[in-house]
Amino acid sequence: MPEQYESVLPDLSRPDLDLLLDFLRFRSVSTKPDHAPHMRACANWLSSLLRRGGFTSEVAETGGHPAVLARGPEAPGRPTVLIYGHYDVQPEEPLDFWTSPPFEPAIRNKRIFARGSTDNKGQILAHILGAIHMLREEGSLPVNLIFLIEGEEEIGSSNLDDFIRARRNELRCDIIAISDTGMIAEGYPTLTQSLRGIAAMEVVIRGPATDLHSGIFGGAVINPATALVKLLGRLHDDQNRIAVPGFYDDVVPPDAAERAELAALPVSESDYQRETGVLLLGGEAGFSSIERIGVRPTAEINGLTSGYQGEGTKTVLPSSASAKLTFRLVPNQKPDRVLNLVEIFFQDLLPPGVEMEILRGHGGMPYILDTRSPWCGAALRALEATFGRQPALMREGGSIPIVQTFRDLLGSDTLLLGLAAPDCHAHAPDENFPIENFEAGIRLHQNLLRELASTR
Ligand code: BES
Ligand code: ZN
Repeated sequence: MPEQYESVLPDLSRPDLDLLLDFLRFRSVSTKPDHAPHMRACANWLSSLLRRGGFTSEVAETGGHPAVLARGPEAPGRPTVLIYGHYDVQPEEPLDFWTSPPFEPAIRNKRIFARGSTDNKGQILAHILGAIHMLREEGSLPVNLIFLIEGEEEIGSSNLDDFIRARRNELRCDIIAISDTGMIAEGYPTLTQSLRGIAAMEVVIRGPATDLHSGIFGGAVINPATALVKLLGRLHDDQNRIAVPGFYDDVVPPDAAERAELAALPVSESDYQRETGVLLLGGEAGFSSIERIGVRPTAEINGLTSGYQGEGTKTVLPSSASAKLTFRLVPNQKPDRVLNLVEIFFQDLLPPGVEMEILRGHGGMPYILDTRSPWCGAALRALEATFGRQPALMREGGSIPIVQTFRDLLGSDTLLLGLAAPDCHAHAPDENFPIENFEAGIRLHQNLLRELASTR
């Protein structure tokens, strides 16, 4: 049942920051089925905020968690701009590593700490409040403005494609803008030029009918956990390249100019080392960290489960083992093809005596923006006006699956204007968003609309 605060409707007379804190209190974790009431309460809150701010707005059904779809007053003859964001967040676990509870937002060192503060509640709310204030102060908006804020981005946006198809006419727009990416360094305005795609799968290895005594049977029965880690151990070669035959066939390698652009960005190897806390950075031989993240594909193990994981020891030979994997993709890789190749690879390596099941998860296409477009020029001017500094062009490693779908279904490109700090801890404990970035986001929205209004 939603907690009491979740039935509170937004009060627009409250300061912007208080509205953000209210938004952050919703436990809108999309992957947890029992959180559905929190998801709906959060969507209702957002939709009424937009309505109170002068938009027409609905909580729209998608087949999964609802989306909020809102529209500003008509601006005849002006471009139509769609702002996309998401109100769902990643799970808050592991809880022990949070300094303050993830759904009780706290302010420390001029940053707001809460799950979703950066990804994506703080960033999308900055756009919403930017528009609401502009409408209040100026009586109109310089563009036709649509907000689409979904509740399933963190689980692959699998219901949104059909929603966009069904409501294609309402969603038609000249350009899309999203703030759900990062800034290369504190105070450095950043336009993200590309996102990686993604393909998710779970590999389950099954052996004996039940868990066995590892002394009574060990040695005579293939251990599914051992079989699984052997397969996983073959994913990369000793140069940290992905060893799945055909995996790189479609990969467009970065050219010399792209490599030079990436090398010129003010991000160093030691920045990555500091942010991650590792002893030594590592990845595919022959590439820098920024290249490995921005323009090269990867295979990652996201979770491994088998056998006894509690305190102490247990001499068990587990009946099954499973691993959750995601592959990050670059142009022109396709999620389905990659998963087919991996499945064949594992099937060939599978020892007799165990069975394998592959469960396919979400997929998303990579995205790359043509930076010579006039829309891109407008975004760069808006970023420069907001932050007083020339923006950097970045290639990001994360994924926003709907971005390429927007291009395929609506024919519109997406501008990615990131507000996340490099140390925002997205998806991790102590996620945080600088108050300064929230305030800059509100101004950025207004500068962006002004710039886009005069673009065609
Ligand atoms: N905001 C991120 C995407 C992102 C993060 C882009 C950093 C660029 C840099 C988004 O909320 C996200 O986490 N997406 C998921 C998508 C997946 C679950 C399908 C991702 O990238 O893991
Ligand atoms: Zn995320």
